[in-house]
Amino acid sequence: MSKLLYIKASPRGERSHSLAVAEEFVRAYASLHPAEAVETRDLFRMSLPALDGEVLRVKYNIMHGKESTAEEKARWKAVEDVIADFKSADKLVFAVPMWNFNIPYVLKHYLDVICQPSYTFAAGPEGYKGLCSARVFIVYARGGEYPATGAAQDIYDFQSTYLEFQLRFLGLTDIQSVIVQPTLRGPEARDSSKQAALKQALEIVTTF
Ligand SMILES: Cc1cc2nc3c(=O)[nH]c(=O)nc-3n(C[C@H](O)[C@H](O)[C@H](O)COP(=O)(O)O)c2cc1C
Repeated sequence: MSKLLYIKASPRGERSHSLAVAEEFVRAYASLHPAEAVETRDLFRMSLPALDGEVLRVKYNIMHGKESTAEEKARWKAVEDVIADFKSADKLVFAVPMWNFNIPYVLKHYLDVICQPSYTFAAGPEGYKGLCSARVFIVYARGGEYPATGAAQDIYDFQSTYLEFQLRFLGLTDIQSVIVQPTLRGPEARDSSKQAALKQALEIVTTF
């Protein structure tokens, strides 16, 4: 049995455009694959471990091949649990708003927790190697509108560029996405973009 993990990075509930499209995708996926597991992680409702000095000591101990104390290991376990949960998924669905041209801080926190050497990537003299494997589908929502190519993209879009760079770094190269934009420039533009994103999402789900 495969497992789909649906990761929510908008706190806006029913008003959220990224959640609205992602939820339709997940609903369609569940009805196409009734025997497969579908689990949700709402990042704004989860208590992610703080990466404070004590916890980071373990990260650096691992990088330097040093042992950690039992107490340090006990705190590190919270990081390991989030990583194990992430790696247990064969399929990942993200709902991601643009916040200040990037991803919301909770998703950055989540990525900071899961991106750990020897767990999700390996670093050696020959370079980096991602240790994760899953298919990925992402719904982005943006108040403004940023073209997919060209100079404006280079300047404004640190949302899809950062998230997809980080996922590829972890070995997740099978990434598909849709974008709802602009969500804050009137209902017409918002609704037609949302309908188009939904249509695309419901096509992608048939082979996901
Ligand atoms: C804290 C915050 C920062 C935002 N920054 C941007 C931004 O940099 N660019 C933009 O186009 N929209 C920005 N927006 C608007 C959101 O991207 C937009 O409302 C989008 O629909 C949010 O996704 P959601 O509807 O799934 O919650 C911001 C919204 C919030 C709450």
